[in-house]
Amino acid sequence: MFTLRTALIASFFACTLSLAAKPLIVAHRGASQDAPENTLPAFQLAWEQGADAIEGDFLLTKDNRIVCIHDKSTERLAGRKLMVKDSTLAQLQELDVGIKKGEKFKGTKIPTIAEVFATIPEGKKIFIEIKCGKEIIPSLLKAIQASGLKDEQVIMICFQPEVVRVFKAKAPRYKVYLLSSFKRSEEGVWTPSIEAVLQTLKTTKADGLDSHHGIPEEMARRILKEGFEWHVWTVNDRETAKRLKQLGVQSITTDAPGKIKKAL
Ligand code: G3P
Ligand code: CA
Repeated sequence: MFTLRTALIASFFACTLSLAAKPLIVAHRGASQDAPENTLPAFQLAWEQGADAIEGDFLLTKDNRIVCIHDKSTERLAGRKLMVKDSTLAQLQELDVGIKKGEKFKGTKIPTIAEVFATIPEGKKIFIEIKCGKEIIPSLLKAIQASGLKDEQVIMICFQPEVVRVFKAKAPRYKVYLLSSFKRSEEGVWTPSIEAVLQTLKTTKADGLDSHHGIPEEMARRILKEGFEWHVWTVNDRETAKRLKQLGVQSITTDAPGKIKKAL
């Protein structure tokens, strides 16, 4: 007989299942819809908006420091062109990468990776995207160790399989996801194929795939079925986020972490 007790038990399990399936909300370049991307104000705002993790892009400077910036040149963000790899940290930090987002961000500097790490609250995570080659890995591992972050707080993501392979081989205690987008030809053929992606995940020993949200659903299902994690970027609308959650995605990277968190 359907009693109140049965109803309570059913609703308890329904809640537990829905909580278990809730993807992590990852702030793409920080809360970059509302603050200048890849800066301390954007990361601080992401935590205030309830993000579970932040995502940032990292490059190596001429004097072997790791800075948080997406492009290889500063032109788009600062209106003045310096190539990151040919500039020192001091030269890069003379630039203002906040003013284009609004007067209140005037004077915001490109942060070092240590400054970004220092914003991370206990229990929250960082998705570190390596935007250069594997030459960054020794300095990156030193910076992670110096940060005092716990192993489970640190995730490395990269589009380059070779960087994924080398990082995972040197530091297997950290989760590593291969980044990939997918293109569909006029004939309906997807590139890369699911078999090619699975092969790369296996050979690099990646823990999972972090894909563009436009990945075909059958590919996402296959990734999960094969025992890999599946994550997505960059989702700024509620309906897409809800659809991906139903498919079993484990994290959603978004420019608007507050909005997407609330929607889910
Ligand atoms: O989270 C992955 C995503 O950030 C990759 O694209 O160009 O924004 O770095 P991009
Ligand atoms: Ca990125």
